Amino acid sequence: MAKKVVSDLNLKDKKVLIRVDFNVPMKDGVITDDTRIRAALPTIKYVLEQGGKAIVFSHLGRIKKAEDLAKGDMAPVAKHFAELLGHKVTFINATRGKELEDAISKMHDGEVVMFQNTRYEDLEGKKESSNDPELGAYWASLGDVFVNDAFGTAHRAHASNVGIASHIKESAAGFLLEKEIKYIGGAVDNPKHPYVAILGGAKVSDKIGVISELIKKADKILIGGGMMFTFLKALGNNIGKSLCEDDKIDLAKELLKEADGKIILPVDTVCAKEFADVKGEVKDVNALASDDMGLDIGPKTLELFTNELKGAATVVWNGPMGVFEMKNFEAGTLGVCEAIAHLENASTIVGGGDSVAAVEKLGYADKFSHVSTGGGASLEYLEGKVLPGIACLSEK
Ligand code: 3PG
Repeated sequence: MAKKVVSDLNLKDKKVLIRVDFNVPMKDGVITDDTRIRAALPTIKYVLEQGGKAIVFSHLGRIKKAEDLAKGDMAPVAKHFAELLGHKVTFINATRGKELEDAISKMHDGEVVMFQNTRYEDLEGKKESSNDPELGAYWASLGDVFVNDAFGTAHRAHASNVGIASHIKESAAGFLLEKEIKYIGGAVDNPKHPYVAILGGAKVSDKIGVISELIKKADKILIGGGMMFTFLKALGNNIGKSLCEDDKIDLAKELLKEADGKIILPVDTVCAKEFADVKGEVKDVNALASDDMGLDIGPKTLELFTNELKGAATVVWNGPMGVFEMKNFEAGTLGVCEAIAHLENASTIVGGGDSVAAVEKLGYADKFSHVSTGGGASLEYLEGKVLPGIACLSEK
């Protein structure tokens, strides 16, 4: 059954608890990428337009000790959020108590209150992250309805999502969560074929669940990034000094066998003698010297992957093809990004920090059907797992 969406709720005069994922990267107190904040704005604007009172909250980082509090302070995020929203946001530097309760009780329709990092509650006893029932019930008591728009945290069963939803009468997905369900959920449950997946990133161990699921669902699985070398070594290639998880070679062999030709591996790589942003040399994957280190897919591989993508109806991409943060080894990732962006009539979904960064760098975000805001959440969703932050919401 489908989950309720914010547009299914009656919001007029309601105190609307909105869980967002504003866990944004920051450097020296400055937000370096505000994608997640911008992605939640349509839901918040809608709640305000409908005459609701928006009570917004998120986690920021992980709070394990007192020294983490300053880094996790939500105040600069609230300030930036207000600028993007173009609307006053009253920030309450507390996660519970009189100041927060008074601020909420004084709210008028169309106003916004944001409270402090939900994980400040983890400092003593992990109340947020362990879904402490008293905390979930308390936060639920502050509102009339609950809207979850935090896809990035949907793989967590915390007090600020599952806890609130289980203590409130009505809950729904925000528009961002709805879009994530439509595209990623659609690729998991009912993908249009041909379905081509492209996976990259350093480690096979991070992607085992996804690869196993894709072997069942996809028609082709193109593998690049550091993880390609574990597969190439499993096939008997000399991979030199390239990244390899030796304890995953047997697993790679099993996956290759199970995939029965669906897994397509690189045929060439751009390598260097050291892990540094130096000019690389293109070599076929069966021609690496023992001191070579493969740091990107090569041009023949890019052509191979581009051809495999042609005619695809569903494309899911997660993980860079090489050391994307180094200029000399970014071509594979950018090339794959370009190839996907130019596909016509395909549902194209990208997830994961570096692949999303490549999309943003090339200015192709609007050329993808969906740019996921989830890291771990999008991977677990692609693995076919039930995400607690979605499962907890009211059915239509
Ligand atoms: C993320 O950035 O992936 C989400 O915000 C979840 O954060 P977490 O891994 O700290 O739960």
